[in-house]
Amino acid sequence: MPVRSLPCRRLLATCVALLTLLMATLMANPAAGQSAGCTVDFNVQHQWPGGFTASVTVSNSGPSINGWTLDWQFPNGQQIQQAWNADVDNSGPSASVSNASWNANIPNGGSVNFGFNGSWDNNSNGTPSSFTLNGSTCDGGPPDPGPDPDPDPDPDPDPSGTLRAKAEARGIEIGTAVSDSALQNESDYRQVLAREFSSVTAENVMKPDTLHPSRGNFNFSRGDALVDFAQQNGQEVRGHTLVWHSQNPSWLQNGNFSDSELLQILREHVTEIVSHYRGEIYEWDVANEVLNDNGTLRSESPWAQLGEQYIAEAFRAARQADPNAKLFLNDYSIDGTNAKSDAYYQLVQRLLNQRVPIDGMGFQTHLIAGQYPSSMQQNLQRFANLGLDVAITEADVRINLPTDSSKLQTQANDFRQTVEVCLAVSRCTSYTAWGFTDRHSWIPDVFDGQGAATLMDTNLNPKPAYNAVLQALQ
Ligand code: XIL
Repeated sequence: MPVRSLPCRRLLATCVALLTLLMATLMANPAAGQSAGCTVDFNVQHQWPGGFTASVTVSNSGPSINGWTLDWQFPNGQQIQQAWNADVDNSGPSASVSNASWNANIPNGGSVNFGFNGSWDNNSNGTPSSFTLNGSTCDGGPPDPGPDPDPDPDPDPDPSGTLRAKAEARGIEIGTAVSDSALQNESDYRQVLAREFSSVTAENVMKPDTLHPSRGNFNFSRGDALVDFAQQNGQEVRGHTLVWHSQNPSWLQNGNFSDSELLQILREHVTEIVSHYRGEIYEWDVANEVLNDNGTLRSESPWAQLGEQYIAEAFRAARQADPNAKLFLNDYSIDGTNAKSDAYYQLVQRLLNQRVPIDGMGFQTHLIAGQYPSSMQQNLQRFANLGLDVAITEADVRINLPTDSSKLQTQANDFRQTVEVCLAVSRCTSYTAWGFTDRHSWIPDVFDGQGAATLMDTNLNPKPAYNAVLQALQ
């Protein structure tokens, strides 16, 4: 019985007796009582043959807690495979789940939520019957549901299933660009980021101006913070980006280097960064936006004075620095077949003929609502047929403001079709959105009069686009 519900005021004598008993228990077991007053809501959100996702909310009605561990026994041999918002230790039936670095504190009256993907044996997926928080038994586990009215091991699709659970079941990564300031300052943002996505891309903090602020000096602190977050939440990291014409430090952009010096800088730049993240980044956008819309080499890049050869050099240096990372080209307005994607198709073939270690082609997929390019699947497939992986790397679908329900529906259809393309092309390994909430999106800053381009509104509520992506991943 939790301390808070002792009937002290009315039954004083009983109360004294019970308190004496409680004191005796506390003395016998000093850990007990440290977090008395907790309830646990353990909720299986979705299950499919062999797997399930669960969401667990721990509410604290006792004294404020700083640092928590929740323990339970799985009744049917379930195993946790990947958790978010928490660290897990699961051996045999015993599960022990502890706070992540940012959610250690549960004030009195507060709660934390974490989730996980687990495995089960398809016979029974019973919920644990009791929990302890920091060693103290928690009250109010889930009500006993009684006999299962629907013993089907693959029940009806649950709309509250997460994007990452569904993407995992389909064998692709589902990713998002991450705003560094939101990652630092917004706990609701972090929570949704951890819950919904299996892959993250730094929106800005792995770009050359951040990572290489002065020649030979590298600043990995914010990139490292994202990698830490990803590792704590069982997420992969896409690296973005090593060579680009934009967001370069001025020492590089205005350096007037000789060709030989510039080549040396290129090799150092790529080698330092890729080595730093060796083993931690599964895909790198090695070269971003290297061609103009008419298919010629983009000249405003500081690297362009070396000619097309700089692209090959960047890939070679990256391969040497991390032989296991997949190395990608990446650009916008190449989602359908057009002059620019044709030029990339030629470029990739030229590079492959020179044995340049290129593994993949990234399609940014910055779309305008209603302008989904119908040749997208065919276009991705032709790159896949060259032996490359393909990825959708920066998906968003901007709307001419103000938005309304029919524009949101059009946007949802566009998102859905891009996800379907990735699922239809077997070499498509990841689908990344360029941000997941309209609270943080680059669109209104760059495209006058346009916005609302992401999957969730500014309050992190799902928009029709979110539901469309979820459905497409079913
Ligand atoms: C954008 C970021 O979202 C903005 O915050 C930043 O000010 C400019 O860059 N293509 C890319 C991304 O490859 O790096 C760009 O990101 C969006 C277009």
